[in-house]
Amino acid sequence: MTFQTMPKVELHTHLEGCAPPAFIKQLAHEKKIDISGIFDAGGGYAFRDFDHFLKVYEAACTTLQSPDDFRRLTMAVLEETAAHGVVYMETFVSPDFCGGGDLAAWKDYLAAIEDAAREAEDKLGITLKGIVTGIRHFGPEACKPAARCAAETFGDFVTGYGMAGGEMVRRPADYAYSFDMAREAGMPLTCHAGEWGGAAMVAETIRHLKVARIGHGIGAIDDHAVIDQIVENDLVLEVCPGSNVVLKAVDGWGSHPIAKLRDAGVKVTVSTDDPPFFHTTMTAEYDMLNKTFGWGEDDFKALNKTALAAAFCDDDTKARVAKRLETAQ
Ligand code: ADE
Ligand code: ZN
Repeated sequence: MTFQTMPKVELHTHLEGCAPPAFIKQLAHEKKIDISGIFDAGGGYAFRDFDHFLKVYEAACTTLQSPDDFRRLTMAVLEETAAHGVVYMETFVSPDFCGGGDLAAWKDYLAAIEDAAREAEDKLGITLKGIVTGIRHFGPEACKPAARCAAETFGDFVTGYGMAGGEMVRRPADYAYSFDMAREAGMPLTCHAGEWGGAAMVAETIRHLKVARIGHGIGAIDDHAVIDQIVENDLVLEVCPGSNVVLKAVDGWGSHPIAKLRDAGVKVTVSTDDPPFFHTTMTAEYDMLNKTFGWGEDDFKALNKTALAAAFCDDDTKARVAKRLETAQ
């Protein structure tokens, strides 16, 4: 078995962030939108740093204007993801990019995404679930309609609520209202923290937002007490090493804390975040973890087991995916 064909569980991706640049270029051409400035000479996405990355990301999203655009996007993304052995994927979907936070519009977009997910499951054997996401740098007020959309559509496909975006905007407590709304609807929660904000941001996120998982969380490495808190609360980190390297949240693969966190007893998982932006795939992540830390098949099997246990989907789906992981062993 190669790392590419090995069955995988991926918990942390952003649906729009998985859009191949050629797909976005095609939409821009169809709609006569000039976003040529976001691409480099080789046709990839071009950005200088994290803040610029967010701007380029949002510019790419301006081409996604209808439920049918999201249907096509979801299909394109799942074809690419399934080609790297992913059998179960969770993706962040944002009402802000799907109808501007309006609940009726959101339901139309969601129906199209779910349609494509069903088709991909039949054709490619990959299961997709959605985590509705507030965008932190749009502010706490803008996250409230996102949380309402989440609570109103929580079910088979929408399995959780989370928050992405600029981590240094406001503090976690400012977003408690949205997280409370989703929690009261019974939704499991995750939040980006410790990608940029260090251990303190992770600690505040745990305290005020009461999440089960943390997006990235790598900043926890600098504070033993925060690592202890993660372990004691049985929290799971959605680590995206290739993303961290390209965005320079770490100096390079050799200094990425994922191995140290795992060795300290933290439940870590591996994901690609926004793969075409970071020139990565799940296969590439596994290859680099193998080269950098010597992780092999047994480590990746354990990683996938941890990820499936932490997935936000129902137990029947977990049992089906577990069989896919086992039968390939
Ligand atoms: N949205 C898409 N990718 C992101 C990342 N790496 N951090 C925060 N928000 C994001
Ligand atoms: Zn992310």
